[in-house]
Amino acid sequence: MIGTGYVGLVSGVCFSDLGNDVICVDKDINKINDLKNGKIPIYEPGLEELVLKNFKNKRLSFSNEIAASAKKSDLIFICVGTPTKKGGSGADLSQIYNVAKEIRKSINKFKIIITKSTVPVSTGDKIESILSKRCKKKMFSVVSNPEFLREGEAIRDFIFPDRIVIGSNDLKSNKILKNLYSPLISKGAKYINTSRRAAELIKYASNSFLATKITFINEIANLCEKTGVNVDDISIGMGLDQRIGSRFLRSGPAYGGSCFPKDTKAIITTANKFKTDLSVIKSVIKSNENRSKLLLKRVYEIMKNKIRNKKISFLGVTFKANTDDMRDSSSLKMIPELSKKGAIIRYYDPTGSKKNFKKYKNVFYSKSLQRCIEKTDLVIIHTEWNDFKSLNFKKTFKNKKTIIYDMRNLYSAKKMNQLGINYFSVGRSS
Ligand SMILES: NC(=O)c1ccc[n+]([C@@H]2O[C@H](COP(=O)([O-])OP(=O)(O)OC[C@H]3O[C@@H](n4cnc5c(N)ncnc54)[C@H](O)[C@@H]3O)[C@@H](O)[C@H]2O)c1
Repeated sequence: MIGTGYVGLVSGVCFSDLGNDVICVDKDINKINDLKNGKIPIYEPGLEELVLKNFKNKRLSFSNEIAASAKKSDLIFICVGTPTKKGGSGADLSQIYNVAKEIRKSINKFKIIITKSTVPVSTGDKIESILSKRCKKKMFSVVSNPEFLREGEAIRDFIFPDRIVIGSNDLKSNKILKNLYSPLISKGAKYINTSRRAAELIKYASNSFLATKITFINEIANLCEKTGVNVDDISIGMGLDQRIGSRFLRSGPAYGGSCFPKDTKAIITTANKFKTDLSVIKSVIKSNENRSKLLLKRVYEIMKNKIRNKKISFLGVTFKANTDDMRDSSSLKMIPELSKKGAIIRYYDPTGSKKNFKKYKNVFYSKSLQRCIEKTDLVIIHTEWNDFKSLNFKKTFKNKKTIIYDMRNLYSAKKMNQLGINYFSVGRSS
């Protein structure tokens, strides 16, 4: 596994748990040393136990030697990052191509090179041409095997995936990969074999569709607020239609994370290259960019435009629960903006303080949830961690005037009003 991040580490550990010998490789030596010492670089439920177990029984090892590790391997999974290009909107594929250049020295026998990273359609062709410059074509096969795991549920998603997509026309590679995944297929995972380009595009189309679903319900929530309708009723009413489904149909802050924002932008760039207009996805990106501004506008309304010196507490800053990932979290837009307007911000997140906010003078991390929300003017529930779902606000608030803005609709507006709590939520009339 080349690239030991959220995808490479989880997939590597799970493959080793299925009985394979796995080397997780990364160019970040500190990460590799930490892993060798049993320190897990990311927060992912259940990961630590699985790493320690498989490391101890020697099916899992860690290395920063890319070429040497590739030489020892039959299957090489590329799991490095494909972030948005600096100053652009397409995917930066430099990490992918660097790996291809590094491993081509190590192809001493037939090897399958598999991209697990999310890469634009036709990247596999480019990898193949990079490898061909040094190796004979019969010595390797390039396959696309996009990863669909969700951070926070990554291990479960890897072991019980809805589907496994293998993009290759090479019969030998297909057979080997189907065999690798057979323990998951026998537990019910659907296996599909497509062309390499189709597999690459399935990943982008899936992520763009999920981003569209979230954005759709967020816009419907805006209409609900104006018409006195509860958006939760709409989500249930729509979700029960099996053609629609209830997942990803809950309104809240703008979607964030390491995938949807970059992947929706990248597919537009790819489509432009192929002279195709993806107008729906373009609208989704625009609407999502407006989302944080819209929720901030709501904060100003709630606070009657008095933000300077007000104490505002954020519960959760990661883009979703059960992960420490801050990439493209909407808190990265909201907190700096409120801080610029003179608010004094405290935040609590179960995964600890975040370096993203260190440069702001009036933004502080609270070690405890309790400390974060006592004596504050406004509590913003930003991330749906379980820790925030059963708070006793009545008992907690020393300041009786404290307002709650629940961006995840964790609480019943009716119950909050009955308790006399100044409560606002998303897509509801109060
Ligand atoms: N994070 C997710 O939930 C998720 C889910 C599905 C797919 N993906 C896709 O998987 C890919 C990886 O995502 P991630 O979140 O795991 O990224 P990440 O940033 O957490 O990890 C990438 C790792 O690759 C390492 N790396 C970079 N260049 C290297 C090289 N030349 N040799 C060895 N290591 C190198 C980096 O040091 C880093 O540790 C991306 O394309 C992403 O879109 C991510």
